[in-house]
Amino acid sequence: MARSPRRLAPTAAAILLLVVAQIALGGLVAGLKAGLIYDTWPLIDGAFIPGREHLFFLQPAWTNLIDNHLTVQFAHRMVAYLLVGLAALHAADCAYQDDARCRASAVALAFVLLLQAVLGILTLLLHVPILLALTHQRSPWRRLSWPRFHAQICAPAGSPLPTASRGVDRASVGGVITRQIIPHTLHAVRAMRA
Ligand code: HEM
Repeated sequence: MARSPRRLAPTAAAILLLVVAQIALGGLVAGLKAGLIYDTWPLIDGAFIPGREHLFFLQPAWTNLIDNHLTVQFAHRMVAYLLVGLAALHAADCAYQDDARCRASAVALAFVLLLQAVLGILTLLLHVPILLALTHQRSPWRRLSWPRFHAQICAPAGSPLPTASRGVDRASVGGVITRQIIPHTLHAVRAMRA
């Protein structure tokens, strides 16, 4: 089977890591009910990028990343834009590869991330209706399987990610992150530099 060029693996691994971070940020948005407090889009608190004095008013500054409704939701939005943009560029990059699985999974990944972002925006604008919020909340766990599947396809030989599979057991997400995703990312970066 054709292997994807080594330079694709770190981007695929970075997308996977960003999705994990985004799911954690989403948990904070939901936990703080920040979607009910800041319910406008594309502006938040009246600006695309809110003022520093609002984003970092809590002391020490790092607590804003877990306790400040504005900062947590702003970070969730920014990571979403970054993810959608990165996944689109990565899909365009993969479009020139011979490996059909790499091309198809990169396009599917960009599509599910875009869909997830649209669901998030609708959840916000419609004041967090339960069905939409649940769809937006639960689907990333299933969608985490897409970045993992794609990262495995792009993986250099010897990666700790198991053979491509689209299933992720929610109960073992912690184990997947510590035993597979983080070691895989390091392996992909090392293989690219070798
Ligand atoms: C790639 C994109 C995204 C991913 C993977 C994602 C993921 C998540 C997850 C996993 C949760 C819930 C976590 C939990 O309850 O444990 C969540 C909550 C939320 N997200 Fe996103 N999200 C994305 C984009 C967005 C965008 C673009 C917006 C809006 C601009 C948004 C708005 C929200 C809101 C308002 C909640 C809280 C819903 C509630 O209170 O139940 N999300 N997100």
